[in-house]
Amino acid sequence: MNIDGKAWRTIWLEAGGRSIAVIDQTQLPHTFTTRSLTSLDQAAEAITTMVVRGAPLIGVTGAYGLMLALQADPSDGALAAAFTQLLATRPTAVNLQWALERVRERVLPLAPAQRALAAQQEAGAIAEEDVLMCEAIGDHGLRLFQELAARRPASRQQEPFNLLTHCNAGWLATVDWGTALAPIYKAHRAGLQVHVWVDETRPRNQGASLTAFELGREGVPHTVIVDNAGGHLMQLGQVDAVIVGSDRTTRSGDVCNKIGTYLKALAAHDNGVPFYVALPASTIDWSISDGVAEIPIEARSEREVTHIQGLVSPVAGAALGESPRGEASVVSLTQVQLTPTGSRGFNPAFDVTPARLVTALITERGVVSASEEGLKQLYGVG
Ligand code: MRU
Repeated sequence: MNIDGKAWRTIWLEAGGRSIAVIDQTQLPHTFTTRSLTSLDQAAEAITTMVVRGAPLIGVTGAYGLMLALQADPSDGALAAAFTQLLATRPTAVNLQWALERVRERVLPLAPAQRALAAQQEAGAIAEEDVLMCEAIGDHGLRLFQELAARRPASRQQEPFNLLTHCNAGWLATVDWGTALAPIYKAHRAGLQVHVWVDETRPRNQGASLTAFELGREGVPHTVIVDNAGGHLMQLGQVDAVIVGSDRTTRSGDVCNKIGTYLKALAAHDNGVPFYVALPASTIDWSISDGVAEIPIEARSEREVTHIQGLVSPVAGAALGESPRGEASVVSLTQVQLTPTGSRGFNPAFDVTPARLVTALITERGVVSASEEGLKQLYGVG
């Protein structure tokens, strides 16, 4: 996607394939900076610390992490250890396991000397497929939005089509385009007048920092709201549809996404607002059907609850965020404490929205009901 007219992806090979580069998402929206990852440990650390995040991007980073591991040591033992280390970085998004298994299956039958290159090719293929899947999700979602917008009463046809999204399921969460944001970008480019309510998404504020950044750079009208405002806006008729991503989707259509998604789905259900989940095939976990019982929910540090990070003091005259290569020195980020000293925090990072609250799934193969029948119809497995 575009930043100052230049097309960027979130991850790419560099140094003749000896390292990968990523956008450091912990610094956004204040500084746009990239990082080189040259080892398995650096790739694993980038996932754990959320330098990269978002289900599809975590998967691609994991795949390249295996490549880096095999460049250092292509033995069976090193492969198994790297697989285990990367899989443990973040437990909820199934894309990571899926991508790691895909690379492992590709390289295991090969002689050790051939493995690193094969891993590079497989990781590259996963990345390219992710871009194609996300763009296809965008095309299917665009048609859906156009239909929904046209169905509004004549008195509302001149108003923007109001969407609400939670967390960041945009191009920063994938290799390019995004999942939930891809239809929004497509709609904006197709001339549909869209406006996006962006949930801030406590505690890490992926909405306020990443989704707002992305939408702003693409020129999509948007407004950041606190997480609890969505239900109120729905009651007032100011949300035409909700669209979110997914970190793991069961074969029955339950979706696991950023904490707070479930409450948005409940509010949407109560107000007759359609609730869509956009996801690529790599997010479907065919081995489970009960999301609440079977999806591992990542518990992150309580410090993310008790403290908040923000910008302190921009250097006078610095054009913050204006340059894709913005210098780290122009901004100063700090953490401040929100809670009384001694209060404990609890920080589950994801929740599960049952299929019954999901109006439809938007996949790269089309729009389908959130159900086993719907998913089988599209993918022919299950
Ligand atoms: O904790 P994060 O930032 O990795 O969580 C990201 C999300 O919850 C996204 O909505 C999800 O990965 C789907 S995105 C394509």
